[in-house]
Amino acid sequence: AGDMGPALKEVLITAEQLSKRTEELAAQIDADYAGRELLLVGVLKGAVMVMADLARAMHLPVQMDWMAVSSYGSGTKSSGVVRILKDLDADISGRHVLIVEDIIDSGLTLSWLVGNLKSRDPASVAIAAMLRKPSSAQMDIEVAYTGFDVPDEFVVGYGLDYAERYRNLPFIGTLAPEVYGGNTSR
Ligand code: PRP
Ligand code: MN
Ligand code: MG
Repeated sequence: AGDMGPALKEVLITAEQLSKRTEELAAQIDADYAGRELLLVGVLKGAVMVMADLARAMHLPVQMDWMAVSSYGSGTKSSGVVRILKDLDADISGRHVLIVEDIIDSGLTLSWLVGNLKSRDPASVAIAAMLRKPSSAQMDIEVAYTGFDVPDEFVVGYGLDYAERYRNLPFIGTLAPEVYGGNTSR
């Protein structure tokens, strides 16, 4: 993972910073959900690194489930129409659910997902996202646990891809604009 190639502009958040922040978030979540059973719902594929590290940093016993969702193509992404590629394995009615995401960019994915999960009658639904872009502020999404606010650049690594690449970088980096053509939305 060390060879970034010429496409990366800079390291935005180091592996050490990610790890430290993950410990802090895990401690908060442990405290907030003490005495309750928690189900972590990871959103494939971007959230795999956050899920793996956050779950291991926690002391509460948790369960994990996964969803894979996709917007209907870049042209209609702004409509917020999302399609389920892989649904949860289990029923979440009456359960405490924490959605685990790598990044909130426009906020469309999470705003749809929260609505979808709430319609299944869980005891609670909250969000943990390692990164948050400024554009998501327009969406009025309540994010209980945020790792870092990042600028409106194309960020990759620690699960985040550009055209399926860079997910396995252990840090968060920014792509050189000439690589992605200057459009920062995912
Ligand atoms: C990325 C990212 C978030 C979502 C955020 O997922 O992992 O899930 O986009 O964007 P939004 O706030 O504008 O909706 P993507 O759809 O690229 O799938 P991936 O996780 O498999 O990379
Ligand atoms: Mn994703
Ligand atoms: Mg992606």
